[in-house]
Amino acid sequence: MSDVVWAAPRPLAQSKPVEEWDEDTLVLGIETSCDETSASVVRGGRQILSNVIASQVELHGEYGGIVPEIAARAHVESLTPVIREALLQADVTFWDLDAVAATLGPGLIGSLLIGVAEAKAMAAVLDVPFVGVNHLEAHIYSNLLSDAEARFPAAVLLISGGHTLLVHAHEHGNYELLGGTIDDAAGEAFDKVARFLGLDYPGGPEIDRLSLLGNPAAVDFPRAMLREPGFDVSYSGLKTAVINYVRKCESAGGEISVQDIAASFQQAVVDIQVLKTMSAVTHVAAERLFLCGGVAANSALRKGLEEACAAAGVTFTVPPLDLCTDNAAMVAACGTAMLRRGFYTSLDAAPDPNLPLAAS
Ligand code: KG4
Ligand code: ZN
Repeated sequence: MSDVVWAAPRPLAQSKPVEEWDEDTLVLGIETSCDETSASVVRGGRQILSNVIASQVELHGEYGGIVPEIAARAHVESLTPVIREALLQADVTFWDLDAVAATLGPGLIGSLLIGVAEAKAMAAVLDVPFVGVNHLEAHIYSNLLSDAEARFPAAVLLISGGHTLLVHAHEHGNYELLGGTIDDAAGEAFDKVARFLGLDYPGGPEIDRLSLLGNPAAVDFPRAMLREPGFDVSYSGLKTAVINYVRKCESAGGEISVQDIAASFQQAVVDIQVLKTMSAVTHVAAERLFLCGGVAANSALRKGLEEACAAAGVTFTVPPLDLCTDNAAMVAACGTAMLRRGFYTSLDAAPDPNLPLAAS
């Protein structure tokens, strides 16, 4: 369990009563959980006035993955200019803000600390509430931001570099975990397979791009746990199967088509995830499915779930690409929904690298 302290609502000098967190509420969101430095101003929890993202991809690219120390240092350098740019683009000043929300976890502790420290300092100086947001819950809110009709209850597939979860979102702040990966997250598998194939970091978009040129039926990679009951998935074996296949081809002196391998790997992920997700949707009799997280940017997964939902009469929502990967607009939107429920966070609260979804 998390040791995060959730402060009971109490009036601050300039904060509004809970019932006044309305469509004019301006919340600054800050996201620094991993390798994107982002700040955003969102009005009323739904209208994005700015969403500035400084990517660190080039810094980590030469290492083939995120280096936590480099990520934290880059956040220190980028965060203040990114916040300034977010306010400029939104055409608001610090003094217009009603609250400051920042990702409290899960994520890399060094990275989380930068955003949380800056958010707390700003909230204290401006005398407005600080809201510590769960990064996973924030991803769910990217669906509410991108589709005015989207609402709870909904089944959610949250699929990213750090997590792969199937969730039944009953209402704001009430999430039931239905299943998830028992080993690697889907995005982690994309990145590791891409690295093995010599592709650039992050590997997910590269595999997506190459797959368009390949044959998804070229190699029949295993689909683990497909016939097992429940909604858990496993990607570690699939990743190993790709590696073993390439090594076997190489030692036999055969030709390897990176495009075919990428397409076949991606098809296996899509088959697994579409089947498990639609089983979960049926199990909870969900009328809506939200797809979110970085891997939600994958074109084949978007198409696969869109078609499956259309066939099942389920309303499907997926954010545009820039709201799938890490961004601060989803943090501001989630923070606003927390404020509406009377939650904000003590300035004593510490970032939690393992913050579970249920704690939010
Ligand atoms: O949500 P996110 O930005 O960060 C985490 O919270 O993990 O997700 C990043 C992950 C990376 O693993 C990246 O390779 C993957 O999302 N990703 C994709 C695509 N775009 C990003 N995976 C597959 N296809 C894509 N188009
Ligand atoms: Zn994320």
